[in-house]
Amino acid sequence: MTIDDCNIINLQKIADPRGNLTFIEGNRHVPFDIKRVFYLYDVPGGADRGGHALKTCQQFLIAMSGSFDVILKDGIKERRIHLNRSYYGLLIAPMIWREMDNFSSGSVCLVVASENYDATNYIRDFGDFMKTLKPA
Ligand code: TYD
Repeated sequence: MTIDDCNIINLQKIADPRGNLTFIEGNRHVPFDIKRVFYLYDVPGGADRGGHALKTCQQFLIAMSGSFDVILKDGIKERRIHLNRSYYGLLIAPMIWREMDNFSSGSVCLVVASENYDATNYIRDFGDFMKTLKPA
């Protein structure tokens, strides 16, 4: 997997004077069955989140409110993506290192995942991540 396998997906925005609406369906907007949803909120200024890779889990990140940056690393290339719309999502492939920073005040990051939480699916050390990609 490379960071080129991580794409911004433009979700439909149903504009309405009563308020806009966006929806996500598994195997339609995201290429997996949706198993889990979690969200990050009340992130203090200057905080970093993420800092891991997932062995098999795919995740789809949306800035539901406010904005933040996602830094993706595949061991060769690196990319910083600014998310700031409720109708754009970033699809992150397995075995991609991700970090999140630059959270705006009051921002909310929604994550839609292809797997239930499993601590053994995480690689939380960047050196271990690089070793897994390129075993000696
Ligand atoms: P962590 O993965 O460290 O958060 P982030 O990568 O966004 O900084 O998760 C923080 C804690 O929450 C950790 O103890 C694991 C727990 N957790 C769950 O129990 N279930 C979940 O679905 C997630 C994402 C985390």
